[in-house]
Amino acid sequence: MNILLTGGSGFIGSNFVRLVLRERPDYRVTNLDCLTYSGNPENLADIEDDDRYTFVHGNICDLELCTKLMHDCDAVVHMAAESHVDRSIIDARPFVESNVLGTQTLLDALRRADPGGTKRFVHVSTDEVFGDLPLDKPEELFSETTPYAPSSPYSASKAGSDMVARAYAHTFGMPVMITNCSNNHGPYQFPEKVIPLFVTNLIEGKKVPLYGDGKNVRDWLHVEDHCEAVLTVLEKGTPGEQYCIGGNNERSNLELTHAILELMGKGEDMIEPVTDRLGHDRRYAIDATKIKRDLGWEPTRSAWPQALEHTVKWYVDHPRWWQNVKSGAYREYYAKQYGTR
Ligand code: TYD
Repeated sequence: MNILLTGGSGFIGSNFVRLVLRERPDYRVTNLDCLTYSGNPENLADIEDDDRYTFVHGNICDLELCTKLMHDCDAVVHMAAESHVDRSIIDARPFVESNVLGTQTLLDALRRADPGGTKRFVHVSTDEVFGDLPLDKPEELFSETTPYAPSSPYSASKAGSDMVARAYAHTFGMPVMITNCSNNHGPYQFPEKVIPLFVTNLIEGKKVPLYGDGKNVRDWLHVEDHCEAVLTVLEKGTPGEQYCIGGNNERSNLELTHAILELMGKGEDMIEPVTDRLGHDRRYAIDATKIKRDLGWEPTRSAWPQALEHTVKWYVDHPRWWQNVKSGAYREYYAKQYGTR
């Protein structure tokens, strides 16, 4: 199988490439990525010479390029997205452009190249499309039947992209599947997200900015568990269906921060309470019963404390990677090679 992957140079995408090449020796991956600030070819430095891997520098909003790539592939995994809530609060426009228009362009390209609807398309999304859950009702979880109620510009753009994907499946009978995951962590995550930001700040001797009261809860999923779930949906999912993917691992930000401080041998004095994020969602948590029951997937790498230890250790062991990312040095290098958006 030749998979067209969008956003393969990002955090989840690069982990997906690595997992597919490792676990499916007869698969090929073509990675379409436009290398915005978070797409980094260094994330795939260890596999770029694998002849089953091809990199294409381009934008998912480019219909002609996407149509050509759709002709050449057997299936599509769509991960390219603007993903950071704080950035969407500062400027929502790139989120609507990449997430909504990019998804629509890809689906139009697929229709053009495959009018018979034989090529499967997995649209990778987030649990944030469901809004948030109360802290005082732990029995409440997001599932495939939860109504959409996005609250940030980011989650609104992802909800829009999910609706476009759903509409193309319904209207044109395309074999589109949607996945909604909880918060990912693991190697190669851009250090604007809370875990790599806090770990790398502590290594640099800086404090960790904890938003608000720190009681917000996230359901932490190891990125390899997520990638395995997406591969499972690609191979075994039912066209038109939606699958929620979670780590079954809810932690408050305070618990997370204390666990990181302990692993790094640092004290509570390194916490810097800061003003809360605007519209900060209280709690996300996933009921992943459907994907387990129908496709046999469940998380095997997300249990704490091991999963968090593994992630923290990766950043401790790879200072060159995140120092390049934090300083922007990698961007200057790749801007020369590929140009920037
Ligand atoms: P983040 O990693 O941005 O993911 P998301 O907003 O998609 O859940 O944030 C995870 C949680 O950590 C969220 O509740 C906000 C909080 N947070 C902080 O307290 N400080 C920070 O500097 C960041 C980036 C996040």
